[in-house]
Amino acid sequence: KRVAILISGGGSNMVTLARSMTADHPARPCLVLANDPAAGGLARAEAMGIPTAVVDHRPFGKDRAAFESELTRVLKGYAPDIICLAGFMRVLTEGFVTRWQGRMLNIHPSLLPKYRGLHTHQRAIEAGDAEAGCTVHEVTAELDGGPILGQARVPVEVGDTPERLAARVLEQEHRLYPMVLRRFAAGDRDRVDL
Ligand code: GRF
Repeated sequence: KRVAILISGGGSNMVTLARSMTADHPARPCLVLANDPAAGGLARAEAMGIPTAVVDHRPFGKDRAAFESELTRVLKGYAPDIICLAGFMRVLTEGFVTRWQGRMLNIHPSLLPKYRGLHTHQRAIEAGDAEAGCTVHEVTAELDGGPILGQARVPVEVGDTPERLAARVLEQEHRLYPMVLRRFAAGDRDRVDL
């Protein structure tokens, strides 16, 4: 299976996903694509010998469809079987998502269905939650709403700042996403709960 990984920033999830696709793994990274030419993950992917591409969303302004048709054009050149969104910060329209339905995963830094959208750690702290975590789900047209494939939980500590909680959750993202992708690429949809 060929996996394209879409990033917007540092790409720490991309690195751990790429590293997890060892010789015995049913999948291989075929592309790392960023929507920002300054994404730090691009250099990390190049250092790992993974092909990279950039489709900068800014020239397209509010025209999501035009951005996504360029995204699709570039992706087609690498023929991915699976797309992994990893710290990818653009909302994808129903048109794009439908084309990839059942073959596109995302990692979200909350225990969905709680805290869809942004500022998830701040919201968990403000709500006084005892637990937080991350979720890997199939991407559907409903933002952060697709079938859940795995979750990892962490305690919220007294005095936690969003940054400290984010770091604790990110560690679990790096464990969860590779475990889910390995199963997903082998056709296994059983949930992973860490
Ligand atoms: C992090 O906030 C992570 O929780 C979310 O995307 C952001 C960047 O992740 N998944 P990465 O280091 O670019 O993978």
